[in-house]
Amino acid sequence: MSREDDRQASAERPSDPTLLTDGGTSELATVAELAKRRGFFFQTAESYGGVGGLVTYGPQGSALKRNIEDRWRDRFVTRAGNMELSAPDVMPEPVFEASGHLDGFDDMIVECPECETAHRADHLVEDSSEHEDAEALGIEQIGELIGELEIACPDCGTALAGESVDEFNLMFGTDIGPGSSQPGYLRPETAQGIFTEFPRLKEYARGKLPFGVAQIGDAYRNEIAPRRGLIRVRAFTQAELEQFIDPEEDEPAIEAVADVELPLYTAPAQADEGGQETYTVRKAVEEGVIESAWIAYYLGLARDWYEAIGIDMDRFRYRQHKAGERAHYAADCWDAETELDGEWVEVTGFAYRSDYDLTNHAAATGDGFTVFKQYDEPKTVERPGVDPDMSTLGPEFGGDASAVADALASLAASEPDAFTGDTVTVEIGGDSATVATDVANFAVETVTETGEHITPHVVEPSFGIGRLFYSVLVHSYETDEVDGEERTYLSVPAELAPTFACVVPLVSNEPALVEQAEQIRDQLRDAGLEVAYDESGAIGRRYRRQDEIGTPVCVTVDHESIEEEPTSVTVRDRDTTAQARVPVTELRDCLLALRAGTSFSDLLDRDAVTPV
Ligand code: GLY
Repeated sequence: MSREDDRQASAERPSDPTLLTDGGTSELATVAELAKRRGFFFQTAESYGGVGGLVTYGPQGSALKRNIEDRWRDRFVTRAGNMELSAPDVMPEPVFEASGHLDGFDDMIVECPECETAHRADHLVEDSSEHEDAEALGIEQIGELIGELEIACPDCGTALAGESVDEFNLMFGTDIGPGSSQPGYLRPETAQGIFTEFPRLKEYARGKLPFGVAQIGDAYRNEIAPRRGLIRVRAFTQAELEQFIDPEEDEPAIEAVADVELPLYTAPAQADEGGQETYTVRKAVEEGVIESAWIAYYLGLARDWYEAIGIDMDRFRYRQHKAGERAHYAADCWDAETELDGEWVEVTGFAYRSDYDLTNHAAATGDGFTVFKQYDEPKTVERPGVDPDMSTLGPEFGGDASAVADALASLAASEPDAFTGDTVTVEIGGDSATVATDVANFAVETVTETGEHITPHVVEPSFGIGRLFYSVLVHSYETDEVDGEERTYLSVPAELAPTFACVVPLVSNEPALVEQAEQIRDQLRDAGLEVAYDESGAIGRRYRRQDEIGTPVCVTVDHESIEEEPTSVTVRDRDTTAQARVPVTELRDCLLALRAGTSFSDLLDRDAVTPV
């Protein structure tokens, strides 16, 4: 099929404006069109008309996505010495009550009274004004701005002034098992699958902080208005790392990244309409620009990782969240952002979640969410406590007697001075209970303690794999001219390329040549390389097809490959289109070296390799 035929066939399938495959010419739309035509990603269930915000990764896309995930696992799990787990995508409701998602994971929605289309109210305000972060404004202010800015429905033009703006919870709800006795939700972040298992995970870490637990998996958000290709979708893959630390003692290995340069766009710079500034990790920590050394450490580690997977560092920055912008669990947050089509897009959030999650899960379930921190030396401490006389509390408070005793114990620990009078009063389920102090039996004991139970704090780098994937595609999209014709190619790093090599027999009607090409293909596949085989069409067209999916090399089997000893093939470089003659006996090693990062020009220095 020619390139024009390809385009034609692709265009005949339904187009999706949210996926940008409806004929637009922006940078994102151009890449989305290529992605659909060449099997990177496309709308799910197109045959049924598709659904906005659900995307399927095709053969090339699945391979590229898997390679990005493998690189992430290598950097943030294997080399960082962290653990990994895989939790289910669906979790019971109480998990999300405790995590705060049931109450706080909302977007603002406004519906058109005429065509009934639902819109993200804050996005409408951003699109019609200078507000860059309308999500931080309250629902009332957004409602007022819709009136003041005379915002109309983008779909049918009806005025939206006066329409109610509501909170819309983004979680997909379901029932676990038959009936409705056990409501559940598709997880809106993979993180909760780690926090809920903390009591077990700390045992695997032998109760010692710091330790990190990672997870790569899908998360789901019922977005009001999916848009911009892979940027806002309803099912997406996260790679999250939860780093559990003792905030008072644990320090990251900051020296390993101290000299890494970070392009920082701080919250004060945003408020003063300043710009981004480059800091080394060391300087950012020393000057307090990044408050948490752990966050700074991960920004440093991740910066080099982004570069290695093909993010253009001239289109990359770290932006600090402003106060009103942070998620309900975050005490501080920095986003890694890539520039796409002139707009900055979050690809990773680095959040200081403090003890928010573990404290809430402990409150909901009981013990297990702390670790025992051993002191260097035992400490002698005074511990106030009570030993209530239950034979008095029982008759007086009946079924509430043990609750009264527990409340007295809590009060003794937090406010020992409350026991200086003749009576002491505690609150039980909204009622007051007054007890004689000598019935409470208050006393201060001197005890020796070897340690204490602390709730770890959490630092969380949370990577959006789909957005990174899209950024890699957009930043590696290149065009040039070869033999007088415009050419498109993806300059993805060799290590990440979905197809690493394509074996192409010069002609397809000579059995000896085809047999040699098939043998070479199979040998390279046995060496663990992703190898395609293409014998259809003119050789130039076959090269272009591979260039468009970012295949780093094509291996051409020609007459010299079967007629001359030693047999050899040509290897063609995607980025420069330069070619070299390589003996078949050396081919495997040469290609493995290229995939591991050797440049094509360095390959030409090898004795066995001859430039063509
Ligand atoms: N776990 C952070 C997020 O999902 O945004």
